[in-house]
Amino acid sequence: MARVDVIRVKGGTALTGEVGVGGAKNSALKLMAVALLAQGRSVVDNVPRITDIAIMAEVLRRLGCQVTLDGGEATIDVPAEPGSEADYDLVRRLRASICVLGPLLARRGYVRVALPGGDMIGSRGLDMHVSGLARMGAEISGEHGFVIASAPHGLRGSKIWLDFPSVGATENLLMAAVLAKGTTEIDNAAREPEIVDICEMLTDMGAHIEGAGSSTLVIEGVDELRPVRHTTVGDRIVGGTWAFAAAMTRGDVTVQGVRPEFLDIALDKLVTAGATVEPGDNQFRVRMDDRPKAVDIVTLPYPGFATDLLPMALGLASVAEGSSLITENIFDGRFMFVNEMVRLGADIRTDGHHAVVNGRARLSGAPVRATDIRAGAGLVIAGLCADGVTEVGEVHHIDRGYPDFVADLANLGAEVERADVPEPTFDF
Ligand code: EPU
Repeated sequence: MARVDVIRVKGGTALTGEVGVGGAKNSALKLMAVALLAQGRSVVDNVPRITDIAIMAEVLRRLGCQVTLDGGEATIDVPAEPGSEADYDLVRRLRASICVLGPLLARRGYVRVALPGGDMIGSRGLDMHVSGLARMGAEISGEHGFVIASAPHGLRGSKIWLDFPSVGATENLLMAAVLAKGTTEIDNAAREPEIVDICEMLTDMGAHIEGAGSSTLVIEGVDELRPVRHTTVGDRIVGGTWAFAAAMTRGDVTVQGVRPEFLDIALDKLVTAGATVEPGDNQFRVRMDDRPKAVDIVTLPYPGFATDLLPMALGLASVAEGSSLITENIFDGRFMFVNEMVRLGADIRTDGHHAVVNGRARLSGAPVRATDIRAGAGLVIAGLCADGVTEVGEVHHIDRGYPDFVADLANLGAEVERADVPEPTFDF
């Protein structure tokens, strides 16, 4: 009989101690794609040990690169002429592999990447990626489930206004622009620390970029880039997850490896909820002595409150004293997992992109299932605040973004285990 992994957690323990956070998934994945821009060996270190990184390594291998993943280091040997096609079977498993579109178009003048389609957190369009590349002179078409882009005479610098500061579109356009002829200006660009990380690696490779971390990026194209070694920035979303877990369980946790200023608004919300936050150098401590107080939270592009921490915000609101209004502005499907939270006894009502949450003193352990990476982590943490045992299924989602999640929880004192259980089968 087939077996599947679950995480079982017994509620009631306050998390205490220290937890280390490695490199950001959403940076490392793109830094691996950045390597495609230069022939030769680039090394990206502080890469998290998660499934998504292994899939990205496979995407690059199928493009003709030699890739090894070893002890948090991704070594990528890029040939003079990388391949130009990314298949559906990999892209559907890793939506982020769409980030090879920009660099491959810049290097090869032609690229064919499978359309990733939607996922559990939303429909996720590509229109800004496509219209930006078209402005740089690419001809773009779609057929048989692929987006096909060609620029046989090279890309040319252009002025691009994004309708919305999309992380993925900013990255693809940036990676295309560094090898385009002339100057590209991207306005209303995303400002996430992961974008700054990409700009730093590109600059070390010889790219000319101004404005990293602001909403206007000015890129002067160069003829060639050189391979480099780069260290991935710490994962602010994993760090933020631990911060909320500390507050929700009324614990005391020091998070190492993440700059607190990347979580300014999130940590400030925890202070409003009653926590004490001590920021430090690439670390911070969160302590909560009493039951958290309700806080209203609105997700927005960086530096706003991160949508990836929305499940944790809902978790905090579910156990807080009073009513909170939580608003999601980035993904239309983020509230999918609310039904799972309701199974844990949370009092949440949604209307469009708003959720009204009436906090309860305790949740009630139940079997639930992870619907995406962040919802999965959020449910495990909610389970820490529930009476009895919570069993979270479909934990492969959590493996996509949180290395050593169960071991880290156990080190902080949680009663938690990972177990494999028989998968029910039904005969017809
Ligand atoms: N959008 C469009 N058209 C586009 C591009 C985006 O309509 O051309 C829409 C999307 O549908 C979405 C919104 O704009 O509703 C935001 O999309 P964005 O491009 O900013 O996000 P992304 O690049 O697809 C990355 C992270 C997400 C994170 C978001 C927002 C990676 C691999 N993913 O996604 O991370 O939530 O930025 O910060 O970097 C996660 O790690 O669990 C995760 C989902």
